[in-house]
Amino acid sequence: MDHKAWCRTALEAKGVFRTAWLLDAFDAVDRTAFVPARFWVPEKDGAGRYLLVDRERDEEAWLRAVYDSHRSCITQIDDGAVASTGPARGDFTSSVSAPDIAFEKLCHLELAAGQRVFEVGSGLGFHTALLCERVGSQQVTAKEVDPGLTAAGLANLKRAGYTPAVVCGDGLKGWAQRAPFDRLISTAALRNRIPTAWREQMSDGGIIVTPFGTAYANAGLLKLTLRGGVASGRFVGGCSYMWVRSQRPGRRIGELGEARTTVSALDPGEVMQGTWQQDFVVGLQVPDISFAHRGEGQDRELQLWNEPGTCVTQVRYDAWWEPGAVTVWGPRNLWDEVVGAFTVWCEMGRPDITRFGLTVNAHGQRLWLDNPQHDITNRL
Ligand SMILES: C[S@@+](CC[C@H](N)C(=O)[O-])C[C@H]1O[C@@H](n2cnc3c(N)ncnc32)[C@H](O)[C@@H]1O
Repeated sequence: MDHKAWCRTALEAKGVFRTAWLLDAFDAVDRTAFVPARFWVPEKDGAGRYLLVDRERDEEAWLRAVYDSHRSCITQIDDGAVASTGPARGDFTSSVSAPDIAFEKLCHLELAAGQRVFEVGSGLGFHTALLCERVGSQQVTAKEVDPGLTAAGLANLKRAGYTPAVVCGDGLKGWAQRAPFDRLISTAALRNRIPTAWREQMSDGGIIVTPFGTAYANAGLLKLTLRGGVASGRFVGGCSYMWVRSQRPGRRIGELGEARTTVSALDPGEVMQGTWQQDFVVGLQVPDISFAHRGEGQDRELQLWNEPGTCVTQVRYDAWWEPGAVTVWGPRNLWDEVVGAFTVWCEMGRPDITRFGLTVNAHGQRLWLDNPQHDITNRL
């Protein structure tokens, strides 16, 4: 079976080749040249470990996973602390992106021949090669934070005949020496804010496409256009990328002291069982709150915590209406804040993600609904 042809058909069916160059680039770039012989897939075994795919052991399974149109190839766990020798637990920290979302993002980038493009998070180079196909290697600048991945990505690109400028470092700082850029595409997710360097290093009319999220929901795909030093645009859809390395949300919970109990204003089943879009929009209003679920059945609970880990709130799903269903540690009742954010979103008529946008200038960042004049920064 021709796995690449199978992937191509799947991507065509998804409608991600909306301009001709994308299909040409898909055909031209050999994805197998950028995927290591061993990587993990986002699927767990019975022990809760991510499965390893090994080319030497099963070439057919390896090719199937490389050309899965919807799943990424996980190439690094816990910043490289886990060796790719078997199934593993941990946090994904690098991957070769799934073809469907990679091409979807490139559609939004509106990349034209000859433009200068900056990529954040080049990893093993597959996506960088697609950019080179469109604009030529000399127009592509890429930054990867991980030294080992930078070296491996450069070697892959060179072997495949591409010679973009690839440097190891923090992509949030851009790369002033090669600026201005006509396009910027990030393959790592920003949390809460657009970096100043990105805005400052773009040419007028330039476009930025980046995954963007909050600790609450890492789910948005944002497209900004630069005009007169102001970056403005909407969320154009959803995606789920790994966080930019320095912006991973905190997981530590500090000394909390005495707890107090209180009542819940709403059914957590209603607030927490929404779509990713609902979570994303609620998260825009409570950007420093993270959540997780614990327990099963009658013991099922929602746990919320703030970024420095100084406030924790737990909410019981079972008999949520009873006094004492909510337990609060620290000065903030985080459940009240989430309920407040959910209520505001309901009062707005439950707008979907594409009705929200951001405008960023030298003075700060504003969130809006439908158009930049309808500022909801303070309301949220
Ligand atoms: C999802 S991988 C994408 C790799 C590749 N561009 C692709 O699409 O196949 C995200 C990459 O971003 C890198 N990264 C994370 N934070 C970064 C930062 N601040 N600057 C540059 N790269 C970063 C990670 O090391 C990782 O390799």
